Amino acid sequence: MSTDAPEEQSPYGPGSRADRPAAPSDASSGASVEGAPLPRRVRIPHLHAMKAEGRRWAMLTAYDMYAAQIFDEAGIPVLLVGDSAGNNVYGYETTVPVTLDEMIPLVRAVSSAARRALVVADMPFGSYGASVEQGFASAVRLMKEGLAHAVKLEGGTAMVPLVKALTGAGIPVMAHVGFTPQSEHQLGGYRVQGRGDAADELVDEARALQEAGAFSVVLEMVPSPVAARVTEVLEIPTIGIGAGNGTDAQVLVWSDFAGLRSGRAPRFVKKYADLRGTLLDAARAYAADVESGAFPDAGHSFES
Ligand code: KIV
Repeated sequence: MSTDAPEEQSPYGPGSRADRPAAPSDASSGASVEGAPLPRRVRIPHLHAMKAEGRRWAMLTAYDMYAAQIFDEAGIPVLLVGDSAGNNVYGYETTVPVTLDEMIPLVRAVSSAARRALVVADMPFGSYGASVEQGFASAVRLMKEGLAHAVKLEGGTAMVPLVKALTGAGIPVMAHVGFTPQSEHQLGGYRVQGRGDAADELVDEARALQEAGAFSVVLEMVPSPVAARVTEVLEIPTIGIGAGNGTDAQVLVWSDFAGLRSGRAPRFVKKYADLRGTLLDAARAYAADVESGAFPDAGHSFES
């Protein structure tokens, strides 16, 4: 091949629309574009059918195009652009500082990259607690500017009016009860919720959110028997994180499950890869090659 020939691939990676697989004209149809069978977009009725059939499923967070593409290709049916972006993208200590303006570009990147998965956008702290009107306006931005398919919000019965308003206007809502990280200062830190007498209250809250129209509910750091009870009582899927294996689905933060973070992970995290180790090795090998002159070699250079 002549060294003057145009590069076959964009030198800027596959981010430009021209380099991406063609988007389906109707993603829900399963029809094909240019002969390639297209996956069906995961929809809320699919998740409800899985609950009815007793089929469990996995949700992962994603904050960028590559993670979204990879998890989508792996068949993860729901991707959450969590406000855990605060800890995992922006380097904050908690999710509290995350703003709607910081969330929207991440949601848009994930929604644009995921061809099959349902993309849920977290409503960040301070974007919905003041009033139904404030929450409604924030959710509309996540749907219109972020291209999300659904939103997630933290809180129990206090959220019922907002969940009703959103679902009444066609915005699907994933609820989140148990330990709610946006309230960690109010809750006194990372603590298991729903123990003892608080179990009945948790069940009531989850039921109220279902009745308000939520299509699913995240149960975070809840004793396994309590999460199993909520799952039994509800018709909508429950998604556990630190809630045992009696829920309909599980969620993990992707940088935790893939071993990107340093230090000790919470007890409920299972590490499925060591990306931190892999990237450390790669970065050290690259630096050593540059220092020794081994990179770039002729195969990675252009002739005159
Ligand atoms: O922000 C997030 O990632 C979450 C999940 C841990 C449920 O809320």
